[in-house]
Amino acid sequence: MLRPGEDLLHVEDRLWVLTAPTGKGIYDFAFDRFFACRRPYQLPGPVEAIARAGAWNDYSERYRELEAEGVRLVHSPEQHLLATELPHWYPKLTDLTPRSVWFDERPDAETVERLLGWPVFVKGERQTSRHQKSLSIIEGPEQFRHAMDVYAKDSILHWQRVVCRELRPLRRVEEGAPDRIPSSFEFRTFWWRGELVGWGPYWWQGSPYTMTAHEQREALGLGREVARRLDVPFLVVDVAQEVSGRWIVIECNDGQESGYAGSSPFALWQNVLDVERERTAPTR
Ligand SMILES: Nc1ncnc2c1ncn2[C@@H]1O[C@H](COP(=O)(O)OP(=O)(O)O)[C@@H](O)[C@H]1O
Ligand SMILES: [Mg+2]
Repeated sequence: MLRPGEDLLHVEDRLWVLTAPTGKGIYDFAFDRFFACRRPYQLPGPVEAIARAGAWNDYSERYRELEAEGVRLVHSPEQHLLATELPHWYPKLTDLTPRSVWFDERPDAETVERLLGWPVFVKGERQTSRHQKSLSIIEGPEQFRHAMDVYAKDSILHWQRVVCRELRPLRRVEEGAPDRIPSSFEFRTFWWRGELVGWGPYWWQGSPYTMTAHEQREALGLGREVARRLDVPFLVVDVAQEVSGRWIVIECNDGQESGYAGSSPFALWQNVLDVERERTAPTR
């Protein structure tokens, strides 16, 4: 049932987690070093599990395989798509996120110019190629054509649908490294069953930055509204502040696949366990 490297843990007798190391420090978390974990030889019956095993390129297949063995991942394949792919979450968030269009085939510059005008922000429906600026922040038709040639060959981009978005003026934190998208005042927020379980700066590698109490109310209020609308068990919402002060949604993701960014993984899992304790507490 498990693939090489995978481990099925029962954490604090509350939460099932299917883990596998990815080698990325920002993603991996050694549950058994911080929490009491058991690895039952036999499952007590069908269980519901969070996967923390990296991003699978065959989520729906993996979902069915595990389900047949009595392990139901917290997100159905449909919920996973709703959380991860812009064409799925965008229709529910049109008033909260930059205007976006997407294409089954790589579009030509004239089409993009007609629909959005320049400059545009370009990415795959799931992600950019390692935040490379020259492939995402596109000033005009020349640069766009060049980017599309690269998209056709790039290992991360070539199989994704192309998404073009209105480029919004974000509040800067610092310039990126050469050819890196500059860091903006942006935060990653984690929602477990609609409750906030963690948040931290999105650009965790650069100079540290944080929110005032007022900014927290606005940014986390936005995240909560997104969690309410998408209504999936484990959601990540990245929010950023525009130069005008307005907060917008940059993207959503499946909490099973997301790196922790600047949030504390230990605090996050403790909060998830607390929510579970509340949820499964016997009512008196
Ligand atoms: N529409 C936009 N306007 C301005 N900046 C954007 C826009 N979309 C994304 N960005 C910036 O680019 C960064 C990377 O984009 P993102 O959609 O998060 O790609 P990835 O999925 O690869 O992380 C964001 O963190 C944000 O700073
Ligand atoms: Mg991102």
